[in-house]
Amino acid sequence: MLRLFPDYDRDDLVSRLFRKAVAHQWSPDDLDWDAPRGLTPEQMRALTNLLTPVYLGEQAAMNGAARVLPDLIGHGETAAQLYLATFLLDEARHFDVLTRLYRDFGERPLALRRIPEMLRYHHRLMQGDRVDWLWGILISDVFARDFYLAFARVQREALFGRMSARILQDESRHQAFAHTYLKNAVPQLSPARRQALVDMKDDLLETMAAMNRRLRADCEVLGIDGDAFLRTLAAQVEAHAAAFGLGGGGGGGNGDASAWPKNVARLEAGAAKDGVAWPQRSLPASSAPLGQSMAARDVPALTAGDLRLLVGHRPRRVFPAAVAPGGEEPGCADCAVAALCRTLRHAATALRRRAAPA
Ligand SMILES: [Fe+2]
Ligand SMILES: [Fe+2]
Repeated sequence: MLRLFPDYDRDDLVSRLFRKAVAHQWSPDDLDWDAPRGLTPEQMRALTNLLTPVYLGEQAAMNGAARVLPDLIGHGETAAQLYLATFLLDEARHFDVLTRLYRDFGERPLALRRIPEMLRYHHRLMQGDRVDWLWGILISDVFARDFYLAFARVQREALFGRMSARILQDESRHQAFAHTYLKNAVPQLSPARRQALVDMKDDLLETMAAMNRRLRADCEVLGIDGDAFLRTLAAQVEAHAAAFGLGGGGGGGNGDASAWPKNVARLEAGAAKDGVAWPQRSLPASSAPLGQSMAARDVPALTAGDLRLLVGHRPRRVFPAAVAPGGEEPGCADCAVAALCRTLRHAATALRRRAAPA
């Protein structure tokens, strides 16, 4: 829906978040790539393994925003439309900066078949309309922010810690937007729709727990207590849910309305450094059980059904620009843009020939 002069409130929270996002854009080139790594080679490998679901999540968030944007436009939600345009760029930047990190570390993400739950997670995120998507994105953003926050705190001077400090400010805005939007949208939904959101939350948290089990050995190498991390995450997600009326009295009902102010206050208690921050909870000291290696027998084969979940006929690549060992990156001649340019050049030549005097 194209409107010449759309009516929207430039002073509401979503509009202010949009302008905040515009003012706080940054480039991967702004980072000091010569900063110390602060990690042993084994820890670098563990970090890049652990980053795999996050990395795919950045891509999925970018793609999902592109899919949902027309839905916002179609409903005349102009402020949200503006905000989501910045969200899309944020996620594109996170994807790009992590791609550069993988190359800088000389590592690659884990194969999809090692963590098939990644596909299930993003498939679940793509079910429903913009409200469902924003609920899933809010849960993902809580995860992303906590993850980056942990590194920003403990590796303040190292490359990934500095990168995390940048990214988590973006993720804070994402959370604030999703929370604001859902706080208005969810109370308008039918009980059945609300119950569907509760089911979605439970599905996503369970899927995260399954991914955590597969990454336990890498968490151990980095001294991260994945179980404690997920408990903290679940508490924050439940606080958001309760603030929307999805908690307390059950998902299908109105929730425990008397608890809402307390929950919202809890959410807003951490709003300090970047102005739109949500609670910052410190992670408990590591008490991770001994890492269990990812034995082949524990890794179920990825079925054709799994592959179709996200990707249709071809698997989505976790690491799009594959580089063969010792080889070069795919040249521009191989890409679709180059093919289009070739076609246009041929067409222009043919037109010139046709126009030339015989
Ligand atoms: Fe992100
Ligand atoms: Fe995000």
